[in-house]
Order: sequence, then C-alpha cells, then structure tokens
Amino acid sequence: MTKILITGAGGQLGSELTETLVNRYGTESVVATDINEESRSLFSEIAFDTLDVTDHRALKVLTEKHQITQIYHLAAILSATGEKKPRLAWQVNMDSLLSILELAKEKKLDKVYWPSSIAVFGPNSPRTHTPQHCIQEPLTVYGISKQAGERWCNYYFQKHGVDVRSLRYPGLVGYKSLPGGGTTDYAVDIYHHAVRKTPFTCFLKKDTVLPMMYMPDAIRATVELMEAPREAVKIRSSYNISSLSFTPEEIFRSILVHYPQFEISYSPDFRQEIADGWPQSIDDSEAIGDWGWKPEYDLERMTQDMLANLPHLY
Ligand code: NAD
Ligand code: SER
Repeated sequence: MTKILITGAGGQLGSELTETLVNRYGTESVVATDINEESRSLFSEIAFDTLDVTDHRALKVLTEKHQITQIYHLAAILSATGEKKPRLAWQVNMDSLLSILELAKEKKLDKVYWPSSIAVFGPNSPRTHTPQHCIQEPLTVYGISKQAGERWCNYYFQKHGVDVRSLRYPGLVGYKSLPGGGTTDYAVDIYHHAVRKTPFTCFLKKDTVLPMMYMPDAIRATVELMEAPREAVKIRSSYNISSLSFTPEEIFRSILVHYPQFEISYSPDFRQEIADGWPQSIDDSEAIGDWGWKPEYDLERMTQDMLANLPHLY
C-alpha cells in the first residue's frame, strides 16, 4: 500500500499538494508533517505529526511508525529568508535532504519527491529560455542549497538506485495559501491587496521579468512526474518546467481589468538583486519530451481564477 509522508505540509505548496494527494490516494495513505504545530488545523482528516526535518531520528521514527513508502520533502527556507538566515537555510535545506535520501536508501522507499527551483541559475546563465543544462552560478544561499541538493539527488539515484524525482519550480502563485519568504511572493500578495481594495507596494521594479506558475499547473506537474513510469524520468537532478513569465507591471495591468481603481507603487528592496540573478524564462523541452509536461494557465486565465476565488476567503 502507498503510504506518503509530506514534510513542510503546512506551507504554500504543501497545503495544496497534500489535499491533492489525499484526494488521489485516500485519507489513510497520507501523513502530513510540519515544524509549525499550527499546521495541524489544516489537516483534520489525516494523520498529522509535528516534525523538525533537521531531526534525523524523529524522521526515522515517523517513517517506521507509519510504514512510509514515499516521502514528499517540501520543508525549506526560501530565498529571501535564506539571505537573512544563511546558516539556517543551509542546515534546513541540505541536512534534511541528505537524511531523507539516506533513509530512502536504508528503508528501500518506493519514491522520494524533492522540489528544486529556478534559483539554481545565476547571472551567468542564459537569461531567456534558460536551458536544462547550462552554467549555474547561483548567488543566494537558497540557490546554492538547491543546486547542491540536485547533485545529491542524482548521486543517490546513480549510486543507490533511490527513485528520487524533482522539478525546478518557478515562482508559485495560488489563492488557497500564502507564500513563505520568497522573492516571487509579490505575485501572490498583489492579488490580496486588489481584493481588499488596498494599494500595493511592490518590492521589485516594474519591469522585472520572472518565470511563474499557477498552483494548479504546479500540482499537476508534480503528480504527473511522480506517477510517470520510472524509465521515463531520465533527469534525476531536477527538471526545468515552464508556464508563464511576467513583470509586476503586467500582472498589475491584468488585475486592473477587473479592479480599475487598483493602485500600485514600486519600492525595490534587497529582493531585487536576487530577482536580477534569476532567469526570465525557462526552456522545459526535456520535461515535455520525457513525461509529457504541458501547462494550462496563461496570465489572463490565472488572474481570472485568482480573482474569482480569493474574495470568498475574506
Ligand atoms: P513555504 O515557506 O510556504 O513552506 C515551507 C514549510 O516548511 C512551512 O510550512 C514551514 O513551517 C516548514 N518548515 C520550515 N522549516 C522546517 C523544519 N526545520 N522542519 C519542518 N518543517 C519546516 O514554502 P513553499 O513555497 O511551500 O515551498 C515548498 C518547497 O517548494 C520548498 O522546497 C521550496 O524551495 C520549493 N519551491 C517553492 C517555490 C514557490 O514559489 N513557492 C518555488 C520553487 C521551489
Ligand atoms: N519562489 C521561490 C523564491 O522566491 C523560488 O524558489 O524563493
């Protein structure tokens, strides 16, 4: 029987991915964990355990207790928080991944999922249609941890046969959950300001192009990758995936169509430098070719869906 343990389940991605996995595999098959005890309230139908992923022993005990067969390891410190707390970011992002890969080897887990990021790229990578394989010289601690993590994933697959799968997500945008300390967070916050009818101050410059993805596409990509036949998953570091790219001014204009009174101003901070080192668009031809990736949402459709659903949460 499939038994899935999710780390960082209370986060922006985790809260939505957990819901999808419960719908697919059933309430008995999913165990949610997070360091934040308050996340428990999100998961009334399934088992929830408080877990600090840097506690290797606790991770092992939970894996044994629930007879886990797959781990979705989502817990991480994101790019902006990572620049403020670099040692913590390295500890949480790296140590925990190594523990989980080692556990997967020892317990012969069926599969491991671990998200990487466009943050593995740096200013010396091609900025548009950034290819799967190119120079990667990340400038953030977060990016360095994701780059090193990718190499460890590939190593455990090659040396130990651990079936680990990974996607390099762009910035994720969704209405069901709030982002947790990233450079792309503005693209979620802006919608909240629009529906609350309050002006929005953007921490990036108006013409900063970044690759983004609407959460339903990100969740579907994750499920499709994890359910693809083992031999179809040829890249064991992490796959580029792409959907849409826009600037703060473009997302603002897409919202103006629905909220003509909405106002924006710009006050770039330290996150501008992070964004300036990241790609503007991504070449995802390997994901398309290997396991049939295809995005569904463009900017207009994403904005329509965000603005149709977000007001119900207020
Ligand atoms: P998030 O910050 O919203 O959630 C992370 C969760 O991890 C939080 O619930 C937090 O409480 C938990 N956590 C933090 N430290 C922990 C620890 N020591 N032990 C256990 N749990 C801990 O992040 P997210 O956006 O949901 O990101 C999930 C994953 O996806 C991360 O690996 C992130 O790098 C990756 N990712 C996210 C994006 C994005 O735009 N959101 C883009 C690329 C990659
Ligand atoms: N959206 C993430 C961040 O901004 C990228 O991985 O940190």
